[in-house]
Amino acid sequence: ERTEIASLYTQTPADGIEVKVYGWAKTVRDSKNIGFISLTDGSCYKPVQIVFEAAKLANYAEIAKSGLYTSFEVTGRLVLTPQAKQPFEINADTITVLGPCGPEYPLQKKRMSVEYLRTMPHLRPRTNTFNAAFRVRGEAAYALHSFFHENGFTYVHTPIFTGSDCEGAGEMFQVTTLDLNNVPKTEDGKVDYTKDFFKRQVNLTVSGQLEAEAMAMALGKVYTFGPTFRAEESYTPRHAAEFWMIEPEMAFADLNTYMDTAEAMIKYVIRHLLNTCPDELAFFNQFFDKGLVERLQLVESSEFGRISYTDAVEILKKNNDKFQYKVEWGTDIQTEHERYLTEQVFHKPVFVTDYPKEIKSFYMRMNDDGKTVAAADMLVPGIGELIGGSQREERLDVLTARMDELGMRRSDYEWYLDLRRFGSVKHAGYGLGFERLIMYVTGIPNIRDVLPFPRTCGGF
Ligand code: 4AD
Ligand code: MG
Repeated sequence: ERTEIASLYTQTPADGIEVKVYGWAKTVRDSKNIGFISLTDGSCYKPVQIVFEAAKLANYAEIAKSGLYTSFEVTGRLVLTPQAKQPFEINADTITVLGPCGPEYPLQKKRMSVEYLRTMPHLRPRTNTFNAAFRVRGEAAYALHSFFHENGFTYVHTPIFTGSDCEGAGEMFQVTTLDLNNVPKTEDGKVDYTKDFFKRQVNLTVSGQLEAEAMAMALGKVYTFGPTFRAEESYTPRHAAEFWMIEPEMAFADLNTYMDTAEAMIKYVIRHLLNTCPDELAFFNQFFDKGLVERLQLVESSEFGRISYTDAVEILKKNNDKFQYKVEWGTDIQTEHERYLTEQVFHKPVFVTDYPKEIKSFYMRMNDDGKTVAAADMLVPGIGELIGGSQREERLDVLTARMDELGMRRSDYEWYLDLRRFGSVKHAGYGLGFERLIMYVTGIPNIRDVLPFPRTCGGF
Protein backbone atom coordinates (compact mmCIF):
# COMPACT_ATOMS: atom_id res chain seq x y z
CA GLU A 1 0.00 0.00 0.00
CA ARG A 2 1.58 3.25 -1.12
CA THR A 3 1.63 6.22 1.27
CA GLU A 4 1.59 9.75 -0.12
CA ILE A 5 4.21 11.94 1.48
CA ALA A 6 1.61 14.64 2.09
CA SER A 7 -0.37 12.33 4.33
CA LEU A 8 2.69 11.87 6.56
CA TYR A 9 2.72 15.63 7.14
CA THR A 10 -1.02 16.02 7.62
CA GLN A 11 -1.65 13.00 9.88
CA THR A 12 0.81 12.96 12.75
CA PRO A 13 2.40 9.56 12.20
CA ALA A 14 3.45 7.12 14.90
CA ASP A 15 7.10 6.31 15.41
CA GLY A 16 8.12 3.01 13.83
CA ILE A 17 5.18 2.46 11.46
CA GLU A 18 5.90 0.70 8.17
CA VAL A 19 5.57 2.88 5.09
CA LYS A 20 6.01 2.52 1.37
CA VAL A 21 6.60 5.70 -0.60
CA TYR A 22 7.30 6.42 -4.25
CA GLY A 23 9.04 9.52 -5.45
CA TRP A 24 11.87 11.35 -7.15
CA ALA A 25 15.22 12.23 -5.63
CA LYS A 26 15.83 15.93 -5.18
CA THR A 27 19.24 15.11 -3.72
CA VAL A 28 21.22 11.95 -3.02
CA ARG A 29 24.13 12.20 -0.57
CA ASP A 30 26.22 9.48 0.95
CA SER A 31 29.17 8.90 3.19
CA LYS A 32 30.71 5.45 3.37
CA ASN A 33 27.99 3.47 5.10
CA ILE A 34 25.02 5.78 5.29
CA GLY A 35 23.20 7.76 2.67
CA PHE A 36 20.35 10.30 2.44
CA ILE A 37 17.77 10.89 -0.25
CA SER A 38 15.53 13.90 -0.22
CA LEU A 39 12.44 12.38 -1.82
CA THR A 40 9.41 14.17 -3.27
CA ASP A 41 6.30 12.66 -4.78
CA GLY A 42 4.49 15.86 -5.70
CA SER A 43 1.77 15.35 -3.11
CA CYS A 44 3.11 18.27 -1.10
CA TYR A 45 5.82 20.86 -1.45
CA LYS A 46 7.99 19.38 1.31
CA PRO A 47 10.18 16.36 0.57
CA VAL A 48 10.83 13.58 3.04
CA GLN A 49 14.31 12.42 4.02
CA ILE A 50 15.14 8.76 3.36
CA VAL A 51 18.02 7.34 5.35
CA PHE A 52 19.66 4.24 3.89
CA GLU A 53 22.45 2.13 5.28
CA ALA A 54 25.01 -0.18 3.72
CA ALA A 55 24.40 -2.66 6.51
CA LYS A 56 20.76 -3.05 5.44
CA LEU A 57 20.71 -2.66 1.66
CA ALA A 58 22.40 -5.09 -0.72
CA ASN A 59 22.11 -2.47 -3.48
CA TYR A 60 23.56 0.34 -1.32
CA ALA A 61 26.26 1.24 -3.85
CA GLU A 62 23.82 1.45 -6.75
CA ILE A 63 21.43 3.67 -4.77
CA ALA A 64 24.24 5.88 -3.50
CA LYS A 65 25.42 6.72 -7.00
CA SER A 66 21.92 7.44 -8.37
CA GLY A 67 21.56 10.70 -10.20
CA LEU A 68 19.29 13.56 -9.37
CA TYR A 69 15.64 12.84 -10.19
CA THR A 70 16.01 9.09 -10.22
CA SER A 71 12.62 7.66 -9.25
CA PHE A 72 12.42 5.19 -6.37
CA GLU A 73 10.15 2.89 -4.48
CA VAL A 74 11.11 2.91 -0.81
CA THR A 75 9.85 0.73 2.02
CA GLY A 76 10.94 1.42 5.55
CA ARG A 77 10.09 2.60 9.01
CA LEU A 78 9.09 6.07 9.99
CA VAL A 79 11.41 7.58 12.60
CA LEU A 80 10.26 10.66 14.48
CA THR A 81 13.04 13.24 14.73
CA PRO A 82 11.67 16.01 16.94
CA GLN A 83 15.07 17.68 17.36
CA ALA A 84 15.79 17.89 13.64
CA LYS A 85 14.54 20.43 11.11
CA GLN A 86 12.11 17.89 9.67
CA PRO A 87 9.70 16.18 12.09
CA PHE A 88 10.46 12.69 10.80
CA GLU A 89 12.48 10.64 8.32
CA ILE A 90 12.16 7.21 6.79
CA ASN A 91 14.73 4.56 7.56
CA ALA A 92 14.80 2.37 4.44
CA ASP A 93 14.46 -1.41 4.44
CA THR A 94 14.39 -1.66 0.64
CA ILE A 95 14.96 0.82 -2.16
CA THR A 96 14.14 -0.01 -5.76
CA VAL A 97 15.05 2.18 -8.71
CA LEU A 98 11.91 2.73 -10.81
CA GLY A 99 13.39 4.97 -13.47
CA PRO A 100 17.07 5.87 -13.59
CA CYS A 101 18.18 9.42 -14.28
CA GLY A 102 21.72 9.95 -15.46
CA PRO A 103 24.29 12.74 -15.61
CA GLU A 104 22.86 13.96 -18.95
CA TYR A 105 19.74 15.13 -17.07
CA PRO A 106 19.65 18.86 -17.80
CA LEU A 107 18.52 20.04 -14.37
CA GLN A 108 21.57 19.54 -12.24
CA LYS A 109 21.97 20.78 -8.69
CA LYS A 110 23.58 24.12 -9.54
CA ARG A 111 21.39 27.19 -9.50
CA MET A 112 19.89 27.82 -12.94
CA SER A 113 18.43 31.08 -14.17
CA VAL A 114 14.70 31.30 -14.88
CA GLU A 115 15.63 32.38 -18.42
CA TYR A 116 17.52 29.12 -18.96
CA LEU A 117 14.71 27.11 -17.38
CA ARG A 118 12.21 28.68 -19.78
CA THR A 119 13.88 26.68 -22.54
CA MET A 120 12.66 23.53 -20.76
CA PRO A 121 9.01 24.09 -19.85
CA HIS A 122 8.48 20.33 -19.66
CA LEU A 123 11.14 19.90 -16.98
CA ARG A 124 11.05 23.11 -14.99
CA PRO A 125 8.04 22.15 -12.81
CA ARG A 126 10.54 19.88 -11.07
CA THR A 127 12.49 22.82 -9.64
CA ASN A 128 11.56 24.40 -6.31
CA THR A 129 10.61 27.71 -7.89
CA PHE A 130 8.29 26.37 -10.54
CA ASN A 131 6.90 23.62 -8.38
CA ALA A 132 5.86 26.24 -5.84
CA ALA A 133 4.52 28.57 -8.55
CA PHE A 134 2.28 25.93 -10.08
CA ARG A 135 1.02 24.75 -6.71
CA VAL A 136 0.08 28.29 -5.79
CA ARG A 137 -1.54 28.67 -9.20
CA GLY A 138 -3.70 25.61 -8.65
CA GLU A 139 -4.71 26.67 -5.13
CA ALA A 140 -5.51 30.20 -6.29
CA ALA A 141 -7.80 28.84 -9.01
CA TYR A 142 -9.55 26.69 -6.43
CA ALA A 143 -9.91 29.67 -4.09
CA LEU A 144 -11.48 31.77 -6.83
CA HIS A 145 -14.03 29.07 -7.60
CA SER A 146 -14.80 28.77 -3.87
CA PHE A 147 -15.20 32.50 -3.48
CA PHE A 148 -17.72 32.77 -6.30
CA HIS A 149 -19.51 29.60 -5.31
CA GLU A 150 -19.88 30.78 -1.71
CA ASN A 151 -21.23 34.09 -2.93
CA GLY A 152 -23.96 32.67 -5.14
CA PHE A 153 -22.33 33.01 -8.57
CA THR A 154 -22.89 30.40 -11.26
CA TYR A 155 -19.81 29.28 -13.18
CA VAL A 156 -20.56 29.60 -16.90
CA HIS A 157 -18.53 28.60 -19.93
CA THR A 158 -18.17 31.07 -22.75
CA PRO A 159 -16.87 30.16 -26.20
CA ILE A 160 -13.29 30.34 -27.37
CA PHE A 161 -14.25 30.72 -31.03
CA THR A 162 -16.00 34.07 -31.32
CA GLY A 163 -17.13 36.53 -33.95
CA SER A 164 -17.00 39.77 -32.00
CA ASP A 165 -14.15 41.92 -30.72
CA CYS A 166 -15.19 42.60 -27.13
CA GLU A 167 -12.44 45.07 -26.36
CA GLY A 168 -12.45 46.71 -29.78
CA ALA A 169 -8.69 46.78 -29.76
CA GLY A 170 -8.25 44.61 -32.85
CA GLU A 171 -5.87 42.29 -31.06
CA MET A 172 -7.45 39.08 -32.23
CA PHE A 173 -6.02 35.84 -33.51
CA GLN A 174 -7.92 34.78 -36.60
CA VAL A 175 -8.89 31.16 -36.93
CA THR A 176 -9.33 29.60 -40.34
CA THR A 177 -9.15 26.28 -42.12
CA LEU A 178 -8.65 28.00 -45.47
CA ASP A 179 -5.50 27.11 -47.36
CA LEU A 180 -3.36 30.18 -46.85
CA ASN A 181 -1.50 29.49 -50.07
CA ASN A 182 -4.69 29.41 -52.05
CA VAL A 183 -7.24 31.64 -50.37
CA PRO A 184 -10.70 31.68 -52.04
CA LYS A 185 -11.75 35.16 -53.08
CA THR A 186 -15.12 36.78 -53.70
CA GLU A 187 -15.80 38.66 -56.95
CA ASP A 188 -14.62 41.92 -55.42
CA GLY A 189 -11.33 40.34 -54.37
CA LYS A 190 -11.99 39.87 -50.66
CA VAL A 191 -11.38 36.64 -48.76
CA ASP A 192 -14.41 34.41 -49.25
CA TYR A 193 -15.16 33.33 -45.72
CA THR A 194 -18.27 31.43 -46.85
CA LYS A 195 -15.77 28.76 -47.94
CA ASP A 196 -14.27 28.66 -44.45
CA PHE A 197 -15.14 26.11 -41.75
CA PHE A 198 -17.66 28.29 -39.92
CA LYS A 199 -18.74 30.09 -43.12
CA ARG A 200 -17.74 33.36 -41.50
CA GLN A 201 -14.74 35.14 -40.09
CA VAL A 202 -13.83 33.78 -36.67
CA ASN A 203 -11.28 34.66 -34.03
CA LEU A 204 -10.14 33.41 -30.63
CA THR A 205 -11.86 35.17 -27.77
CA VAL A 206 -10.23 38.25 -26.22
CA SER A 207 -12.79 38.22 -23.40
CA GLY A 208 -15.86 36.23 -22.42
CA GLN A 209 -17.60 39.33 -21.15
CA LEU A 210 -20.27 39.84 -23.79
CA GLU A 211 -21.46 36.26 -23.51
CA ALA A 212 -21.19 36.46 -19.70
CA GLU A 213 -23.49 39.48 -19.81
CA ALA A 214 -26.06 37.41 -21.70
CA MET A 215 -25.82 34.70 -19.05
CA ALA A 216 -26.06 37.24 -16.20
CA MET A 217 -29.32 38.55 -17.67
CA ALA A 218 -30.76 35.12 -16.88
CA LEU A 219 -28.70 33.70 -14.01
CA GLY A 220 -28.09 36.93 -12.10
CA LYS A 221 -24.52 36.46 -10.94
CA VAL A 222 -22.15 34.49 -13.12
CA TYR A 223 -18.43 34.16 -13.72
CA THR A 224 -16.25 32.70 -16.40
CA PHE A 225 -12.76 31.33 -15.91
CA GLY A 226 -11.10 30.46 -19.13
CA PRO A 227 -8.29 30.91 -21.62
CA THR A 228 -8.13 34.26 -23.35
CA PHE A 229 -6.10 35.21 -26.41
CA ARG A 230 -4.58 38.50 -27.41
CA ALA A 231 -2.34 39.22 -30.35
CA GLU A 232 -0.73 42.22 -28.66
CA GLU A 233 2.79 42.83 -29.82
CA SER A 234 3.95 43.60 -26.31
CA TYR A 235 7.29 42.24 -25.20
CA THR A 236 6.63 42.92 -21.53
CA PRO A 237 6.82 40.79 -18.41
CA ARG A 238 3.04 41.22 -17.98
CA HIS A 239 1.58 40.26 -21.36
CA ALA A 240 0.95 36.77 -22.68
CA ALA A 241 -0.76 35.82 -25.94
CA GLU A 242 -2.66 33.08 -24.10
CA PHE A 243 -3.66 33.80 -20.53
CA TRP A 244 -6.52 32.98 -18.18
CA MET A 245 -9.15 35.44 -17.17
CA ILE A 246 -11.85 35.36 -14.51
CA GLU A 247 -14.84 37.43 -15.54
CA PRO A 248 -17.69 37.89 -13.09
CA GLU A 249 -20.82 39.63 -14.32
CA MET A 250 -23.59 40.78 -11.96
CA ALA A 251 -27.12 41.87 -12.76
CA PHE A 252 -28.61 44.75 -10.72
CA ALA A 253 -25.09 45.85 -9.77
CA ASP A 254 -23.21 49.11 -10.19
CA LEU A 255 -19.58 50.16 -10.15
CA ASN A 256 -19.36 50.05 -6.35
CA THR A 257 -20.69 46.50 -6.24
CA TYR A 258 -17.94 45.52 -8.68
CA MET A 259 -15.23 47.15 -6.59
CA ASP A 260 -16.50 45.69 -3.32
CA THR A 261 -16.70 42.22 -4.86
CA ALA A 262 -13.27 42.42 -6.45
CA GLU A 263 -11.69 43.61 -3.22
CA ALA A 264 -13.34 40.81 -1.23
CA MET A 265 -12.23 38.31 -3.88
CA ILE A 266 -8.55 39.31 -3.73
CA LYS A 267 -8.58 39.15 0.07
CA TYR A 268 -10.28 35.75 -0.01
CA VAL A 269 -7.62 34.33 -2.34
CA ILE A 270 -4.79 35.74 -0.23
CA ARG A 271 -6.32 34.33 2.94
CA HIS A 272 -6.70 30.93 1.30
CA LEU A 273 -3.09 30.92 0.10
CA LEU A 274 -1.71 31.99 3.48
CA ASN A 275 -3.59 29.03 4.96
CA THR A 276 -2.90 26.38 2.33
CA CYS A 277 0.49 27.28 0.84
CA PRO A 278 2.67 28.40 3.77
CA ASP A 279 5.72 26.47 2.54
CA GLU A 280 5.47 27.80 -1.00
CA LEU A 281 4.95 31.39 0.17
CA ALA A 282 7.85 31.06 2.62
CA PHE A 283 10.00 29.97 -0.32
CA PHE A 284 9.01 33.00 -2.39
CA ASN A 285 9.46 35.22 0.63
CA GLN A 286 13.02 33.98 0.97
CA PHE A 287 14.11 33.91 -2.67
CA PHE A 288 11.95 36.34 -4.66
CA ASP A 289 10.38 39.00 -2.56
CA LYS A 290 11.64 39.60 0.95
CA GLY A 291 8.53 41.17 2.50
CA LEU A 292 6.02 39.03 0.62
CA VAL A 293 4.17 37.22 3.40
CA GLU A 294 3.94 40.29 5.60
CA ARG A 295 2.71 42.34 2.67
CA LEU A 296 0.03 39.77 1.82
CA GLN A 297 -1.15 39.76 5.43
CA LEU A 298 -1.37 43.52 5.35
CA VAL A 299 -3.31 43.58 2.08
CA GLU A 300 -5.69 40.96 3.43
CA SER A 301 -6.58 43.16 6.40
CA SER A 302 -6.59 46.68 4.97
CA GLU A 303 -9.01 48.65 2.84
CA PHE A 304 -8.02 49.20 -0.79
CA GLY A 305 -7.67 52.75 -2.07
CA ARG A 306 -10.11 54.41 -4.47
CA ILE A 307 -9.42 57.48 -6.55
CA SER A 308 -10.97 58.97 -9.65
CA TYR A 309 -8.99 59.13 -12.87
CA THR A 310 -9.28 62.93 -12.73
CA ASP A 311 -7.76 63.13 -9.24
CA ALA A 312 -5.12 60.54 -10.14
CA VAL A 313 -4.09 62.62 -13.15
CA GLU A 314 -3.65 65.66 -10.89
CA ILE A 315 -1.19 63.68 -8.75
CA LEU A 316 0.61 62.22 -11.76
CA LYS A 317 0.92 65.56 -13.55
CA LYS A 318 2.85 66.97 -10.60
CA ASN A 319 5.35 64.14 -11.11
CA ASN A 320 5.59 64.20 -14.88
CA ASP A 321 9.37 64.71 -14.66
CA LYS A 322 9.61 61.13 -13.38
CA PHE A 323 7.79 59.57 -16.32
CA GLN A 324 8.74 58.57 -19.82
CA TYR A 325 5.17 59.32 -20.96
CA LYS A 326 3.84 62.64 -19.69
CA VAL A 327 0.34 62.63 -18.30
CA GLU A 328 -2.49 65.03 -18.88
CA TRP A 329 -6.25 64.62 -18.63
CA GLY A 330 -7.35 62.37 -21.46
CA THR A 331 -4.18 60.31 -21.88
CA ASP A 332 -4.28 56.63 -21.13
CA ILE A 333 -2.28 55.94 -18.02
CA GLN A 334 0.60 53.55 -18.65
CA THR A 335 2.15 50.90 -16.45
CA GLU A 336 4.72 53.38 -15.10
CA HIS A 337 1.91 55.67 -13.92
CA GLU A 338 -0.13 52.82 -12.52
CA ARG A 339 2.82 51.60 -10.56
CA TYR A 340 3.61 55.07 -9.30
CA LEU A 341 0.08 55.46 -7.95
CA THR A 342 -0.06 52.13 -6.22
CA GLU A 343 3.58 51.94 -5.07
CA GLN A 344 4.44 55.56 -4.26
CA VAL A 345 1.10 57.15 -3.41
CA PHE A 346 -1.16 54.46 -1.95
CA HIS A 347 1.31 51.70 -0.99
CA LYS A 348 -1.50 49.17 -1.46
CA PRO A 349 -4.02 48.11 -4.12
CA VAL A 350 -6.07 50.98 -5.49
CA PHE A 351 -9.04 51.36 -7.82
CA VAL A 352 -8.86 54.17 -10.34
CA THR A 353 -12.38 55.07 -11.44
CA ASP A 354 -14.24 57.09 -14.06
CA TYR A 355 -11.87 57.20 -17.01
CA PRO A 356 -12.43 59.34 -20.10
CA LYS A 357 -14.66 57.42 -22.50
CA GLU A 358 -12.11 57.76 -25.34
CA ILE A 359 -9.61 55.44 -23.67
CA LYS A 360 -12.12 52.78 -22.61
CA SER A 361 -14.34 50.18 -24.28
CA PHE A 362 -17.66 50.79 -26.02
CA TYR A 363 -19.81 48.90 -23.49
CA MET A 364 -18.93 50.99 -20.45
CA ARG A 365 -21.68 53.08 -18.93
CA MET A 366 -21.59 56.79 -19.71
CA ASN A 367 -21.46 59.04 -16.66
CA ASP A 368 -23.70 62.08 -16.34
CA ASP A 369 -20.80 64.39 -17.28
CA GLY A 370 -20.88 62.92 -20.81
CA LYS A 371 -17.06 62.69 -20.74
CA THR A 372 -16.23 59.81 -18.45
CA VAL A 373 -17.45 56.24 -18.07
CA ALA A 374 -18.22 54.16 -14.97
CA ALA A 375 -15.06 52.08 -15.29
CA ALA A 376 -12.49 51.08 -12.69
CA ASP A 377 -9.12 49.38 -12.86
CA MET A 378 -7.58 47.75 -9.82
CA LEU A 379 -3.86 48.53 -9.66
CA VAL A 380 -1.48 46.64 -7.40
CA PRO A 381 2.15 47.25 -6.39
CA GLY A 382 4.74 45.49 -8.53
CA ILE A 383 2.32 44.85 -11.39
CA GLY A 384 0.10 47.80 -12.27
CA GLU A 385 -3.28 46.76 -13.69
CA LEU A 386 -4.57 43.55 -12.18
CA ILE A 387 -8.28 43.98 -12.91
CA GLY A 388 -10.27 45.95 -15.45
CA GLY A 389 -14.02 46.36 -15.18
CA SER A 390 -17.01 48.64 -15.35
CA GLN A 391 -20.68 49.17 -15.00
CA ARG A 392 -22.18 48.33 -18.40
CA GLU A 393 -24.22 50.67 -20.56
CA GLU A 394 -27.74 49.29 -20.17
CA ARG A 395 -29.51 52.06 -22.13
CA LEU A 396 -30.07 50.97 -25.73
CA ASP A 397 -30.02 54.46 -27.21
CA VAL A 398 -26.84 55.51 -25.42
CA LEU A 399 -25.10 52.26 -26.33
CA THR A 400 -25.99 52.36 -30.01
CA ALA A 401 -24.98 56.01 -30.23
CA ARG A 402 -21.59 55.12 -28.79
CA MET A 403 -21.17 52.20 -31.18
CA ASP A 404 -22.00 54.43 -34.14
CA GLU A 405 -19.52 57.02 -32.89
CA LEU A 406 -16.86 54.31 -32.89
CA GLY A 407 -17.88 53.07 -36.33
CA MET A 408 -18.73 49.59 -35.07
CA ARG A 409 -20.69 47.26 -37.33
CA ARG A 410 -24.14 46.94 -35.71
CA SER A 411 -24.89 43.64 -37.40
CA ASP A 412 -22.12 41.92 -35.42
CA TYR A 413 -23.70 42.97 -32.13
CA GLU A 414 -27.46 42.62 -32.66
CA TRP A 415 -27.62 39.79 -30.16
CA TYR A 416 -25.80 41.93 -27.61
CA LEU A 417 -28.23 44.80 -28.19
CA ASP A 418 -31.13 42.39 -27.57
CA LEU A 419 -29.96 42.28 -23.95
CA ARG A 420 -30.87 46.00 -23.83
CA ARG A 421 -34.09 45.56 -25.79
CA PHE A 422 -35.59 42.88 -23.61
CA GLY A 423 -35.65 43.51 -19.87
CA SER A 424 -32.49 45.57 -19.63
CA VAL A 425 -31.16 46.20 -16.13
CA LYS A 426 -28.09 47.91 -14.78
CA HIS A 427 -25.22 45.49 -14.41
CA ALA A 428 -21.49 45.42 -13.84
CA GLY A 429 -18.54 43.09 -14.12
CA TYR A 430 -14.80 42.83 -14.34
CA GLY A 431 -11.90 40.78 -15.63
CA LEU A 432 -9.08 39.54 -13.44
CA GLY A 433 -5.88 38.53 -15.22
CA PHE A 434 -5.16 35.24 -13.46
CA GLU A 435 -1.42 35.19 -14.24
CA ARG A 436 -1.02 38.72 -12.94
CA LEU A 437 -2.67 37.61 -9.71
CA ILE A 438 -0.16 34.76 -9.42
CA MET A 439 2.71 37.17 -10.05
CA TYR A 440 1.31 39.43 -7.36
CA VAL A 441 0.96 36.75 -4.70
CA THR A 442 4.31 35.05 -5.40
CA GLY A 443 6.52 38.01 -6.28
CA ILE A 444 7.55 36.24 -9.51
CA PRO A 445 8.30 39.17 -11.81
CA ASN A 446 7.65 37.59 -15.23
CA ILE A 447 4.37 36.21 -16.59
CA ARG A 448 6.37 33.55 -18.48
CA ASP A 449 7.19 31.96 -15.15
CA VAL A 450 3.67 31.58 -13.78
CA LEU A 451 2.26 29.90 -16.89
CA PRO A 452 3.13 26.21 -17.16
CA PHE A 453 3.62 26.43 -20.93
CA PRO A 454 3.77 30.14 -21.76
CA ARG A 455 2.75 31.46 -25.17
CA THR A 456 3.98 35.00 -25.63
CA CYS A 457 4.59 37.36 -28.49
CA GLY A 458 7.63 36.26 -30.49
CA GLY A 459 7.26 32.53 -30.05
CA PHE A 460 7.44 29.59 -27.71
O1 4AD B 1 -8.68 45.21 -19.00
P1 4AD B 1 -9.08 44.07 -19.89
O2 4AD B 1 -8.72 44.16 -21.32
O3 4AD B 1 -10.65 43.92 -19.68
C1 4AD B 1 -11.47 43.08 -20.36
O4 4AD B 1 -11.14 42.25 -21.16
C2 4AD B 1 -12.90 43.16 -19.91
N1 4AD B 1 -13.74 42.59 -20.96
C3 4AD B 1 -13.05 42.43 -18.60
C4 4AD B 1 -14.45 42.49 -18.08
O5 4AD B 1 -14.89 43.54 -17.68
N2 4AD B 1 -15.13 41.36 -18.06
O6 4AD B 1 -8.46 42.73 -19.31
C5 4AD B 1 -8.74 42.32 -18.00
C6 4AD B 1 -7.47 41.89 -17.29
C7 4AD B 1 -6.41 42.96 -17.18
O7 4AD B 1 -6.65 43.80 -16.08
C8 4AD B 1 -5.16 42.13 -17.02
O8 4AD B 1 -4.99 41.73 -15.67
C9 4AD B 1 -5.46 40.91 -17.84
O9 4AD B 1 -6.85 40.85 -18.02
N3 4AD B 1 -4.80 40.96 -19.15
C10 4AD B 1 -3.72 40.24 -19.50
N4 4AD B 1 -3.00 39.35 -18.80
C11 4AD B 1 -1.96 38.78 -19.43
N5 4AD B 1 -1.61 39.01 -20.70
C12 4AD B 1 -2.31 39.89 -21.45
N6 4AD B 1 -1.98 40.09 -22.72
C13 4AD B 1 -3.43 40.55 -20.85
N7 4AD B 1 -4.34 41.45 -21.27
C14 4AD B 1 -5.16 41.68 -20.23
MG1 MG C 1 -7.71 46.96 -19.01
